[in-house]
Formats: sequence, C-alpha cells, structure tokens
Amino acid sequence: MLVDLRSDTVTKPSAAMRRAIADAEVGDDVYAEDPTVRALEEHVAGLFGHQEAVFVPSGTMGNQICLRLVVESAGELLCDADAHVVTYEHGAAADLSGIQSRTWTSRGGIVDPLNVAEMIRPPGWNTVPTAAVAVEQTFNRGGGAVQPLGSLIELRRIVSDGGQLLHCDGARIWNAAVATGTAFETYGRLFDTLSVCLSKGLGAPIGSLVVTDHERAEYARTLRKRLGGGMRQAGVLAAAGLYALQHNIERLADDHRRAAVLSDALEEAKGATLLYPVVTNIVALEVADAPVLAEAARTQGVLISLVSPTRIRLVTHLDIDDAQVDHAISVLRGLLSSAPAAA
Ligand SMILES: Cc1ncc(COP(=O)(O)O)c(C=O)c1O
Repeated sequence: MLVDLRSDTVTKPSAAMRRAIADAEVGDDVYAEDPTVRALEEHVAGLFGHQEAVFVPSGTMGNQICLRLVVESAGELLCDADAHVVTYEHGAAADLSGIQSRTWTSRGGIVDPLNVAEMIRPPGWNTVPTAAVAVEQTFNRGGGAVQPLGSLIELRRIVSDGGQLLHCDGARIWNAAVATGTAFETYGRLFDTLSVCLSKGLGAPIGSLVVTDHERAEYARTLRKRLGGGMRQAGVLAAAGLYALQHNIERLADDHRRAAVLSDALEEAKGATLLYPVVTNIVALEVADAPVLAEAARTQGVLISLVSPTRIRLVTHLDIDDAQVDHAISVLRGLLSSAPAAA
C-alpha cells in the first residue's frame, strides 16, 4: 500500500472529474472566449462576494499577481516570516515587482493584529511606507492553522484606518471555512485581493484564482499575460475546478478528521512532538532525525514531507482513506519507537 502524505497537491483527478474535463465546452481564453473559464471565474467571484475572479495556472502566480496589485514597485509588504509568499516563491515579489517585504514572527502563523499595527509605517519623506499586509489562510507552515475571524476583522479595521491594502493567500481557505463554518463571503469581503487554489484540498489538477474588484482584475489579466499565464482552451482545466467546487468542499471535513486521527496517534508515540494543534488537514511534528525517518517510512510505502532536519509534515487529502491512515500510523509509530528521542 502506498500512502502519500507529502501534500494535498498530489491528488489525481477522479474518473468523474476526468469526464467533466472531457465534456468541457472551450474557446480561446486569451480572447476571453472560453465559456467554462468564464463560468468558473463568475462562480468564484460570487462565492467570495467580489466583482471578479481571474483564472491563473498556479497559487504562486495568483499570489504574485495579487501582491503586484496591492504594492507598487519599491513599496513595502508586511507578512509572516514563514508565509508561503516569502518562503516558497523564490523571491518573486522582489524580483518581479520590486516589492520590499518586512516580516513578523509568530507562533504557528497566527496573525496578531496589534503587532501588525505597530509595524505599519505611514508615508513620510524618510521611510518606505507600508502599502499592504498579507495573511495566509490556512497557514501551511503552522500545521494548517486557521486565522481566527475576529483577528482578521481587527486587521481589516487597522489597515483600512491606515490606508493599506489586505491580501489573503487563500490556497487552503476552503479548509478554514469548513473547519470553522465561516462563509466564504465573510472571509472574502475582508480582503482587497485573494488567491485561492483548486489544486490543493479540492483535488483539481491545476488552477488558482485571483479574486478582487473590476479595476484590479483588469490589471491582473494584463499581469497574467505578461507572466506567460495567458491560457488558450483552458476550459478543460476550469471544468475540473468547477467539478471540484461542486463536489469536494464539504468532504474536506473527512481530511480534517483523518489528520486528527494521525496527530492523536503520533502525539502519543515516543520520539515525536506535535508542533501545533491540528484543526485542518496538516500535521507538523518535531522528530530527532527527519531525513532518516522519511527515508525509512518511504521504504515501507509511507511518503512524508521534510520541513527541516527535525521537522516533518503529513497532509491528508482526497486520495487518503481510513485504511491508509491506519497503515501510516503503524509504520510511523514503529519507526519512531525504534529511533533515538528528539533533542
Ligand atoms: C499556502 C500556499 N500558498 C501558495 C501555494 C502555491 O501554490 P502553487 O504550488 O499552485 O504555486 C501553496 C502551495 O502549496 C501553499 O501551500
């Protein structure tokens, strides 16, 4: 049995999703003539209570287009030091848009609005003014932590008062909504720009959307083309996204339940420390020697992610069932009990 817990991006399109892809009506989307892309964009914009959504190939492109929309070249972005936008996007904000990022540190990625308020720099002859703040929902490197709605509302108030804009890397905002019962629109209305992904927990093979207002969306389409993200008969991809939105949101609760089962079992195991409480689909653990553990697990058919030499990540998703969770638990508990204890 193979149990791939490295990421929720490893899912393969189901037979039904492939049928939706095969049946998709398509056109040239660079000419704005793909009806399925248009349907997806309208659906997602409506879901988040925004005027428009722009279909892009990846979450990274979505984030980078959004950052460009909210920060001009040489302007400042504030975000968590562990945020995806400054950890895993290869310096794109600096390279592509001339954005200066200043970061805060946190426990598990949960934003502290008062700390952000203290960091914001107003315009002045001698300073780089803060143009925007970015948050991540859920927080990847914080074990899939959910930003509390109250903190986001407070942050919105702070940036509105200060004249900054607010971006959300919502790659897994679906998980946050399912875990807390918060409406997508409630989240959506808090942000000037969102990037949301179809290719994580929702199980589509490709695709993210930039969600924003008319004016920014128009510029987003220009930026997408400039970055090489203008796609032609992209309706085949949009059809997978629409299918995912119709069928794969509520079932995220199953992923969350399975992640809790994994974390409960491994938390009790000798040799592993749970780093953050599990509320969605990501389990982050501290272990003595992560590369050795990952390699030993791989030989027994369990794939896990290395976050650092002493940190691993396990992610539940659409292609993981209860039997696979049980198998992973038994393999990992066996390996952990025979490994030296974490320092
Ligand atoms: C929080 C977060 N944002 C953005 C991305 C980027 O998505 P992509 O891999 O589609 O570029 C990821 C990818 O896993 C992510 O975890």
